[in-house]
Amino acid sequence: MGARKVSSDEYLFDPDLLKNLDWGSVINCLNPPITNETPGEPWLLVRPLCISDYNKGYVQILSQLTTVGNVSKTDFERQFMNMRKAGGYYITVIEDTRINRIIGASSLITEFKIIHNCGIRGRLEDVVVNNTYRGKQLGKLIVLTVSLLAKKLGCYKMSLDCKDSLIPFYKSIGYKLEPGNANSMITRYEETSKPVDPS
Ligand SMILES: CC(C)(COP(=O)(O)OP(=O)(O)OC[C@H]1O[C@@H](n2cnc3c(N)ncnc32)[C@H](O)[C@@H]1OP(=O)(O)O)[C@@H](O)C(=O)NCCC(=O)NCCS
Repeated sequence: MGARKVSSDEYLFDPDLLKNLDWGSVINCLNPPITNETPGEPWLLVRPLCISDYNKGYVQILSQLTTVGNVSKTDFERQFMNMRKAGGYYITVIEDTRINRIIGASSLITEFKIIHNCGIRGRLEDVVVNNTYRGKQLGKLIVLTVSLLAKKLGCYKMSLDCKDSLIPFYKSIGYKLEPGNANSMITRYEETSKPVDPS
C-alpha cells in the first residue's frame, strides 16, 4: 500500500527542516550507517508528526512508553494545534508505509532563553520504538534525527531524563553524564485538574 500524499498544513513542522542533517558528525554511532533520509528500508519514512497520525497509532505507541490516558481524536487534534501554534515542538516519527503505522517517535522541544546570548535549548522527550521493531537501530535513528535537528536549529545543548538502564543506549549516541551536574529532580502534581487551554 503506497503512502498517501500529505499536504503541508497537516505537519507539525516544516519537513524540509529534516533535510541535510549533519549525519557525518555521528557516523560512528550507527552500523550499518543509516540516516533519516536513507533509513535502510524503502518502507521506512522519517517525518514530522501529522495531525492525521492519530489514525496511524501515534497515541497507541506512546502507551509503550508511559501512561497515556484516554485521549480521543478530538483531544489529540486540539493538542496538536496548540503545539503548532506555540511553535518549538518538533515531534518526529518513523512510519512503516507498508501498513501506514507509526513505529517510532521522538520529540525535540525547544526553549527560548535569555542566557547564552538569547540562545535556544533543546529537550529530548517521548522516545519510543514499537516493541516488534526494536534492536534494529531505529531507536538510535529517531533520537539522532531530532538531536541533529536541534543542532541545525542552533540549540546550545540538548538534555534528557532517562532510567538508569538506558544510560548505555544514550551514551552510544553521544550523550554524557556531566559529573556534578547529572541529577534529575521532580515535583509531581495531580493529573486530575484540566490543563488551562492557551487558545
Ligand atoms: C529505548 C528504545 C527507544 C530503544 O529502541 P531500539 O530501536 O531497540 O534501539 P536500537 O536498536 O537503536 O538500540 C541501540 C542500543 O541500545 C540498547 N538498548 C535498547 N533498548 C534498551 C533498553 N531498554 N535497555 C538497555 N539497553 C537498550 C540496544 O541493546 C542497542 O545496543 P547495541 O547498539 O550495543 O546493540 C526502545 O527500547 C523503547 O521504545 N523502549 C520503551 C520506551 C522507553 O523506555 N523510551 C526511552 C525513554 S527515556
